[in-house]
Amino acid sequence: MSDPIVTDFSHHSAEFALRPFETLADMRAEAPVAWSTAHDGFWVVTDHQHIIDGLADYGRFSSSFGPAIPANPFGTRHIPVGVDPPLHSTYRRVLNTWFSKAEVTRREPEIATLVTEIVTGLAKSGSWDFVSDLADVSPGAVTLGILGWDRSRREELLEVMARGLRNQASTDPSIIEQNAAGNRWIREQIILEAEDRRAHPRADLMTVLATEPIVDGEPMSDEEVSDTVVFLLLAGFHTTSGALTALLVQMALEPALHERLDADRDLIPAAIDEVIRIYTPVTAVARRVTEDTHLGEVSMRTGDWALFVNMAANHDPAAFPDPERIDLDRDRSKSVAFGWGVHRCMGLHLARLVLRLEVEAVLDLLPGHRIDLDRTVRSDHVGVGFFYQVVPAVLPGR
Ligand code: HEM
Repeated sequence: MSDPIVTDFSHHSAEFALRPFETLADMRAEAPVAWSTAHDGFWVVTDHQHIIDGLADYGRFSSSFGPAIPANPFGTRHIPVGVDPPLHSTYRRVLNTWFSKAEVTRREPEIATLVTEIVTGLAKSGSWDFVSDLADVSPGAVTLGILGWDRSRREELLEVMARGLRNQASTDPSIIEQNAAGNRWIREQIILEAEDRRAHPRADLMTVLATEPIVDGEPMSDEEVSDTVVFLLLAGFHTTSGALTALLVQMALEPALHERLDADRDLIPAAIDEVIRIYTPVTAVARRVTEDTHLGEVSMRTGDWALFVNMAANHDPAAFPDPERIDLDRDRSKSVAFGWGVHRCMGLHLARLVLRLEVEAVLDLLPGHRIDLDRTVRSDHVGVGFFYQVVPAVLPGR
C-alpha cells in the first residue's frame, strides 16, 4: 500500500463542469483512487476496473448511507438505492414488475401518443427549447403515469427537485432551509396520495406501495412510501431528460450522425446507449466503506466515503478505446452509465423506450429543425448529472 495522492477535487464545482472529461482523465492518470479533501473528505475512484469492483461489492461499499456526496436534500434512505441486500431484493421484487421490459413494452402505445402530442406542438409553434418543452416533459409525465399521479403535477414537482439538486452542495443556511422545505413539501404530497389510495385503491403503483404487504407481511410505512416515491421521481425525471438533450445536441454537432439515424432508425437504440455512455447522465454515485479494506493501492477505513465516478469509468480507454468518439458499433457491455451490480438502474427499459420514441418523433415531425448551438446552456454543476439547461431550436420556414 502507498500513501494516497491528495486532491481538492469536487464533482460539484463549476471548474469540473467546464472540463469534466479532461479532469477525470488527468485524475485517472495520476491516481485512479485518490483522496479528496472536499465535502469533509472522500475517496474518488476514476478507473473502470476499480469502479466496477467497488460497485459490485455491496458488502464492503454500502449504499445504505445514501448514494450521494454530500447527501442530497431529499434524504439518504432512498428505496431501493439506499438499501443493501437482502432487504434490497424485497423492494426490487415489488417494483420490478412495474418497470420490466414486458410492462414497459405494453405501455409503448400510450407513451408514443404522449410524445407525438408534445412534438406535434413543437412543430406547430416553430421555435422551442428542447429541455423545457420536451426532455423535461415526457419522462416525468410517464413516471407519474405509472405511479398513478395526475400528470399535471409534473411541473411543480420538477421545479422543487431541480432546485434541490442544483443546490445540493450549498452551505448557505437560507438555501439549506429552502431545500429542507422542498423536501417536506414533496413528502407531504406523497403522503396525501398514499392516504388517498388507502381510501380509494386503484390499479396503479401508488396503491401497491401504500397498501400491499411488502416487508414481513406489513404494508410500507408513510416514511418508506415517501423514500420510494421521492427516489422514483428523482431517478426518472432528470436522467432521461439529460440523455435526450445530450443526444440531440450531438446530432446537431455531427450532422452525419443525424443523417445516419434518419436513414436507418434501427441504429437509434445504439446511438442512445453510446451517448448515455459518453455523457453519463448520472456522473457519479457514492458508497460508504463498511470495513477496513483496500482498493487498488490505497487503504480505506471503516466509515470512509467513496465516490465512484461512472463518467470516468465510461471514458477509461482500457474499457473503451478512443472513449470520446461516438462509435455505434462498439461493445458497450461494460458501460456503467446505468450503474453496476445490484443497484443497476431499474428504469433502464423505460428510459430507453422514452428516448427512442422521442428521437423518432423528432426525426419524423421536426425534419430540418436547427438547434442554435451558440445559445445552448450546459449546467455548471455536473456533480449530480450531465445536463443541458437550455437547448433552443427552430423549424425554419415556420
Ligand atoms: C437515461 C436515463 C437513466 C440513467 C442514466 C440512469 C442511471 C442510473 C444509475 C447510474 C443508477 C445506479 C445508482 C447507484 O448505483 O447508486 C440507477 C439506479 C436506479 N434507477 Fe436509473 N437511470 C435512468 C433512468 C431511470 C428511470 C426512467 C427510472 C424510473 C422511473 C429509474 C429508476 C432507477 C431506480 C429505481 C434505481 C435504483 C435501483 C436499485 O437500487 O436497485 N432510472 N439509475
